[in-house]
Amino acid sequence: MMGGPGAGKGTQASRLARELGLPHVSTGDLFRANLSQGTELGEKARGYMNGGKLVPDDLVIDMLFDRVSSDDCAAGYLLDGFPRTEAQAESLAARLGDTAVTVINLEVPDEVIVERASGRMLCRGCNAIYHTTFNPPANSGVCDTCGGGLYQRDDDQAEVVRERLVAYHTQTAPVVAWYQARGVVCSVDGNQVPDDVFAACAACLQEAV
Ligand code: AP5
Ligand code: MG
Ligand code: ZN
Repeated sequence: MMGGPGAGKGTQASRLARELGLPHVSTGDLFRANLSQGTELGEKARGYMNGGKLVPDDLVIDMLFDRVSSDDCAAGYLLDGFPRTEAQAESLAARLGDTAVTVINLEVPDEVIVERASGRMLCRGCNAIYHTTFNPPANSGVCDTCGGGLYQRDDDQAEVVRERLVAYHTQTAPVVAWYQARGVVCSVDGNQVPDDVFAACAACLQEAV
């Protein structure tokens, strides 16, 4: 699942993964778990994340490959936010060999992205994603699913979102082109209501089967 910051990757990937019975593997969520647990990896990643920069490839690739080596990923997995550089795409291709890959690319204009990030709230307990206007929880500040407290991400401040957009356009957009050249990209208009985005994503996977 590819797309700019706040394009809706996490929202769609968690629902698709549930539907497919596959694990949802988000490198952003993995880094945030490391940050909250105070691990060495989290400490190394913190400055990059809070500055809206990509974390260096070697750290991301090691963390991701470690995660997808788990038994629950043996039958496949849904990646959210990886790969984001050509080096990451090359290393994933080398690892997967002939395994089929489908890339869903969520397209959302930059001005919509800024609006989405500024109102996003996340659950501390289960990582569920809310938005104060577009997807509010039933009770303010409390997760509908697990009752956990909601928080705002440090990197959702407007100036950091602008940096994340720069990283996306300069480093990650070329990766979409890299996959397009291999004929595996299904583009989805991410600027629709979530149910319509979901239907379009599901159709991409249907075609890929
Ligand atoms: P990461 O956590 O992946 O951040 P991101 O790519 O910026 O994407 P987001 O998680 O912000 O957005 P999303 O597309 O998941 O949207 P969401 O569904 O939440 O990465 C964070 C950082 O970690 C990076 O900056 C980097 O430092 C590091 N990192 C991670 N992976 C890396 C890698 N591979 N290489 C190097 N560094 C890496 O939706 C956003 C909001 O919009 C929510 O409030 C949601 O409710 C709302 N919304 C969603 N869909 C809709 C809709 N259709 N209509 C209206 N509102 C909607
Ligand atoms: Mg996300
Ligand atoms: Zn929750």
